[in-house]
Amino acid sequence: RIAGPSGLVIFGVTGDLSRKKLMPAVYDLANRGMLPPGFSLVGFARRDWEDEDFAQIVHDSVREHARTEFREEVWQQLSEGMRFIPGDFDDDTAFDRLRQTVEELDKARGTSGNYAFYLSVPPKFFPKVVQQLKKHGLADAPEGSWRRAVIEKPFGRDLASARELNAIVHDVFDPEQVFRIDHYLGKETVQNILALRFANQMFEPIWNRSYVDHVQITMAEDIGIGGRAGYYDGIGSARDVIQNHLLQLMALTAMEEPAAFDAASLLTEKLKVLRAVKLPEDLGRHTVRGQYATAWQGGEKVLGYLDEDGIDPGSKTDTYAAVRLNLDNRRWAGVPFYLRTGKRLGRRVTEIAVVFQRAPHSPFDSTATEELGQNAIVIRVQPDEGVTVRFGSKVPGTSMEIRDVTMDFAYGESFTESSPEAYERLILDVLLGDANLFPRHQEVEESWKILDPIEEYWDTHGRPARYASGSWGPEEADEMLARDGRSWRRP
Ligand code: BG6
Repeated sequence: RIAGPSGLVIFGVTGDLSRKKLMPAVYDLANRGMLPPGFSLVGFARRDWEDEDFAQIVHDSVREHARTEFREEVWQQLSEGMRFIPGDFDDDTAFDRLRQTVEELDKARGTSGNYAFYLSVPPKFFPKVVQQLKKHGLADAPEGSWRRAVIEKPFGRDLASARELNAIVHDVFDPEQVFRIDHYLGKETVQNILALRFANQMFEPIWNRSYVDHVQITMAEDIGIGGRAGYYDGIGSARDVIQNHLLQLMALTAMEEPAAFDAASLLTEKLKVLRAVKLPEDLGRHTVRGQYATAWQGGEKVLGYLDEDGIDPGSKTDTYAAVRLNLDNRRWAGVPFYLRTGKRLGRRVTEIAVVFQRAPHSPFDSTATEELGQNAIVIRVQPDEGVTVRFGSKVPGTSMEIRDVTMDFAYGESFTESSPEAYERLILDVLLGDANLFPRHQEVEESWKILDPIEEYWDTHGRPARYASGSWGPEEADEMLARDGRSWRRP
């Protein structure tokens, strides 16, 4: 898969995302031979930079963050196509200059009018930037070429604001031209969910309410909010990652087989899952939110959330959230999906655990199975990428005793190929016009419909529970599962 003639314009090129992810991903793609020789990268920001200064910034970010080895000849070719446009988002002359630059690059580098505009800027700037693109004739592709817009979350903070945002973007770009980034979908292990389920025969027959007891989706982080107080406070963990990453993981785990492996069919199936979500009636019993408190974590005394720089000391923002969702459909009726996420938890791990019912009957003496847990298939999204199957096995010895064992698939052991970074894959897909891994506006809106009532409930009911940094979240979350006769996995 190699992108055709094209270029990428990044707005907000001085930001963290651009420096740590986007620029290195562009270089890595070039280095792997996946970009066309004339590929061009245009930065737009309010800095007094020349093209060379921009190229130097890209160079530094590549040296620091790229995954692949630095090769001078690759860098040379790529850097010749780098341009910088200094300007404000409401500066008309800057957008005129952008248009001229694009036209100049079409001639000089053969980009053929094919451009993606990456809005790596806070959402409050989306309206201005897309309107400027329209006003300066950049959103309409010349005959035979394409124009695409790439936008980053947050896609609103609730259903109403998401709809507003979508309307603004769709006023300028057709839905097919808009690529929304959910970087979890760019992860190799996430793409493998559908391969595991639909390219094999042995999993799908048991992937339903007749055999599955419940599903647990965990996204745990050991880090705190770092320097992101401005973004995070008032948003919280559920809006930050449940609305997007975790609901997407749930949709992929629960969906029916798509009619074809294309964006439209995937959208159809994912939407069916999101629309089938039924919230528990008693949100107080089946949702929990928490806030990390100061504690020793990994030999270091870390600050509690309320003591972090830039956080309102009375903040009710959640840094941990756990919710129980049910799916009202034939495959999953009665099977709860438990989703949880948190900052400053025991360790960084994302996994999807499909936990099976116990065997309906056992011919063994009850003492034989005392230590036997429930069978499970665990998709280990990160960091230890792979799949684990847990089942019972006889303990060697003269008596019948059955205990849990695991069968593991690990990427590192089975493949010599390395996984591209999520952003590499996603940027390449944008340039190829392959929308399979990008949530559409309908999914974004459906996801907010799920989250809004939970956030409203939390807003009007007390405060988040405290949990010690480095722990596995508030006790209330354990109690929430215990009431259902279950417990959280310790990944
Ligand atoms: C982002 C969230 O979407 O995902 C961050 O905004 C979070 O809060 C990050 O830290 C985690 O991504 P990853 O790829 O490190 O799991």
